Amino acid sequence: MNSGTLDGQVVVVTGGGSGMGAAFARRLASDGARLVINDVNEVAAGEVASDVGGEAAIFDVTDSLAFNAAIDRIAAHYGRLDVLINNAGIAPTGDANKREISMANQIKRIEGRYDELTPTDSTVDLSDEEWDRMIKIHLYGTFYGTRAALRHMTPQRRGSIVNISSIMGLRPSAGIPHYCAAKAAIIAFTKSTAQEVAAFGVRINAVCPGFVDTPMLDSMDDLALAGIRMQTPIGRLASAEELSQVVRFLAGPESSYCVGDVFPASGGWV
Ligand SMILES: NC(=O)c1ccc[n+]([C@@H]2O[C@H](COP(=O)([O-])OP(=O)(O)OC[C@H]3O[C@@H](n4cnc5c(N)ncnc54)[C@H](O)[C@@H]3O)[C@@H](O)[C@H]2O)c1
Repeated sequence: MNSGTLDGQVVVVTGGGSGMGAAFARRLASDGARLVINDVNEVAAGEVASDVGGEAAIFDVTDSLAFNAAIDRIAAHYGRLDVLINNAGIAPTGDANKREISMANQIKRIEGRYDELTPTDSTVDLSDEEWDRMIKIHLYGTFYGTRAALRHMTPQRRGSIVNISSIMGLRPSAGIPHYCAAKAAIIAFTKSTAQEVAAFGVRINAVCPGFVDTPMLDSMDDLALAGIRMQTPIGRLASAEELSQVVRFLAGPESSYCVGDVFPASGGWV
């Protein structure tokens, strides 16, 4: 049964073909929203779109012209644009060797053998391409989407933008400086843009999930996942559906006083 609070609202979810984006789409559709599912994966976006009775919009969020064109077309087609969820993202590429060094270092720290710690060289080994791609997809993608959406939301004096950051933007971990920097920058971007447009009826907020059980974590081996569970006070990963409740709150009128606010859902990490 629909609560009806999002009836007819037009919602765009980037990276909506998988994981959290797909869960957000399903959650908002269940409250009556009309969904546009963006992704670079055409098949995945098509499946989610067909599940929620919405449409797919296939483009790369790092392509600003494509982002502008898609948002302009959606706003013209539906006559409105109510919610944008900037969610598309990639995981840092894992390196089993560096993970092993980190694990061994943890044991050496516990045993007080600080002289024997081995450098992981994670930052030294990070290539220009890896850095650029990470910042481009997360930070530039969020900027391109927000800019395109505000061109419609500010004049209509209504809208909600939800940016998916990470606990790594609030409490960074060693080994993934590009991911942490991108996610932290999204928080500052969220606050600045939110202050600019709040008086015009547009709210912009950020969510900082802890570790969520999605395909993004597929590259992690069992030991790495066990390490995450061990460090997470609640003792487990989140489900994408749990995060979708936070996003649902921020998308709708229930969060009317939330402006530039940052919502961790971290299982106790932050
Ligand atoms: N899973 C986690 O533990 C976790 C924790 C905190 C934050 N996040 C963030 O949540 C968001 C969603 O992650 P997820 O876990 O659902 O991952 P996921 O891999 O399941 O989904 C990400 C989706 O984004 C799409 N995508 C990637 N690059 C794109 C691009 N350039 N343009 C358009 N689409 C693109 C992918 O095709 C994929 O469908 C990401 O921003 C991620 O950084 C994830």
